Amino acid sequence: MRNLQVIEHPLIKRDISLLRDKSTTSEDFRIVMRRLASLMVYEVTKDLRLSSYPIETPLERTEGYNIADEVILVPVLRAGLGMLEAYLNFIPNAKVGHIGLYRDETTLKPVDYYAKFPPNLSKSVVILIDPMLATGGSASAAVRYLKEREAKNIRLNCVVAAPEGVQLLEREHPDVKVFAAVLDRALNKNGYIMPGLGDAGDRIFGTK
Ligand code: PRP
Ligand code: URA
Repeated sequence: MRNLQVIEHPLIKRDISLLRDKSTTSEDFRIVMRRLASLMVYEVTKDLRLSSYPIETPLERTEGYNIADEVILVPVLRAGLGMLEAYLNFIPNAKVGHIGLYRDETTLKPVDYYAKFPPNLSKSVVILIDPMLATGGSASAAVRYLKEREAKNIRLNCVVAAPEGVQLLEREHPDVKVFAAVLDRALNKNGYIMPGLGDAGDRIFGTK
């Protein structure tokens, strides 16, 4: 799984445990998801390019920096929305595209229902955000959508990845790097990640 980077940190491990815990309320789940995404932003954006400009400190002139890359964030609806605000805190001028996908409960194949993207996908760093990478069907479909619209520099930030999903993405989109907070054991027969954290969308929005 050469395309996978698991971001290891004690604070991340603590937060995943809170997300996994079935007694964590939706309110706390949202808070922890946002905090965990914030911890990951640092590593996912480490290679962004900088431009420099002169600034005056109270003492002398020196060099300041701006992010030179255009960044487009693409949350996969619904669960990706739980990570979006963390990114916008750090990159407030990022543009946001949305992809609406849900997994058909029996086939486990993604069904798309919404897509809206800002222009300039081809010249931007595109960060796809979705906490769960299970079979990989949704992420792979989302990447296909982005590539059809000329996106070239795409990375995926998930929280929990299953080996099956990482492998599917590596096969279908070897150019897409996957950042995860943890690589879990496997999928169960219903396509849920084990041990996982359950249905991320339902837990974020309290729909079950
Ligand atoms: C979840 C999750 C991913 C997808 C992962 O969304 O947020 O998008 O499942 O599964 P996959 O890797 O097997 O495709 P879900 O379909 O539950 O939609 P929701 O966020 O609207 O609840
Ligand atoms: N989607 C989720 O929200 N959770 C899983 O375990 C698998 C897919």
